[in-house]
Amino acid sequence: MQGKQRVFSGVQPSGNLHLGNYLGALKNWVSIQDLYENYFCIVDLHAITLPQDPKVLRQKIREVAAVYLAVGLDPGKSVIFRQSRVSGHAELAWLLNCVAKVGELSRMTQFKDKAQKGGAEAASVGLYDYPVLMAADILLYNAHLVPVGEDQRQHLELTRTLARRFNGLYGETFIVPEPMILEVGARVMALDEPTNKMSKSSPTPAGYIALLDGPDVVRRKIRRAKTDSGTEVIASPDKPAITNLLGIYAATVGRLVPEIEAEYEGKGYGAFKKDLAEIVVEGLSPVREKAYALLNNPRELDEILEAGAQRAREVARPILHSAWTKMGLD
Ligand code: TYM
Repeated sequence: MQGKQRVFSGVQPSGNLHLGNYLGALKNWVSIQDLYENYFCIVDLHAITLPQDPKVLRQKIREVAAVYLAVGLDPGKSVIFRQSRVSGHAELAWLLNCVAKVGELSRMTQFKDKAQKGGAEAASVGLYDYPVLMAADILLYNAHLVPVGEDQRQHLELTRTLARRFNGLYGETFIVPEPMILEVGARVMALDEPTNKMSKSSPTPAGYIALLDGPDVVRRKIRRAKTDSGTEVIASPDKPAITNLLGIYAATVGRLVPEIEAEYEGKGYGAFKKDLAEIVVEGLSPVREKAYALLNNPRELDEILEAGAQRAREVARPILHSAWTKMGLD
């Protein structure tokens, strides 16, 4: 793996992994895994910024691990591990907390959105500090590239700001990472409300296709997905629903939207949705089947995660030490 640029990314083990996570992030990770030295993390410390039932969290952590493997991440090519098992994440987050500013964290839209729902006063300090932990995740490995969906762009900007600021204050320590955001699939919208992002925390399962949903559930959700007025299968700003479905189609099969538009000219929404459902079922069925098979053997999953954590700790240690030294903590 030597000489390759480093990639870091992660998924929170909260709620259900969905098609947005797959098309915006996981699918891309698999396609680049031979090109880079990869660190794919299950960010369990991020998950607890909102209250979690410990029993459910334990299961969700394994579920994410199973999905990572089921989509095609290979522990021989990528380091797959849990964030909480590498203490450097939390340690570096503290150093970066002392470099980050209250003003810049207050401007993070994801915090503002989430805090608005429950009231900012009642939000946990962890939720507020979430982007600093995310910066620590990435900088701890001196990652060059961070493949994520569009919703993480602002967090990546903050990561870059913190890396530059730390380097400016204490001397060159961290690589300033670049986001890697796809053209198609980086922003999958909810099926029942195409002006909202498809989200794990959505209260209505009709809005998202979970990666572990069975074929009939997938078909039903796509059949019931909201459509726009008119009948033409074309992407346009005044047709957010069909634009989203076209994006899902294109990202799932790896084709361009205009090609698909041409194919469905004059065919109407019904035929398009029917085909889309089959394409998504075909894409997800092998993932679901493999994930369930892996979940039958939790010990093997735990072993893979522990082996990954050991490798991650080795890479992270000297980078954390260098940050300590630069700050005068050696
Ligand atoms: P999370 O767990 O919300 O989502 C995991 C990945 O899926 C992408 N994603 C989407 N892509 C397209 N359409 C959607 N509707 C959609 N919803 C989610 C996300 O952009 C993400 O790439 N903060 C991160 C986790 C994290 C992380 C990191 C990521 C923690 N530390 C360091 C990268 C590097 C998050 O909550 O992702």
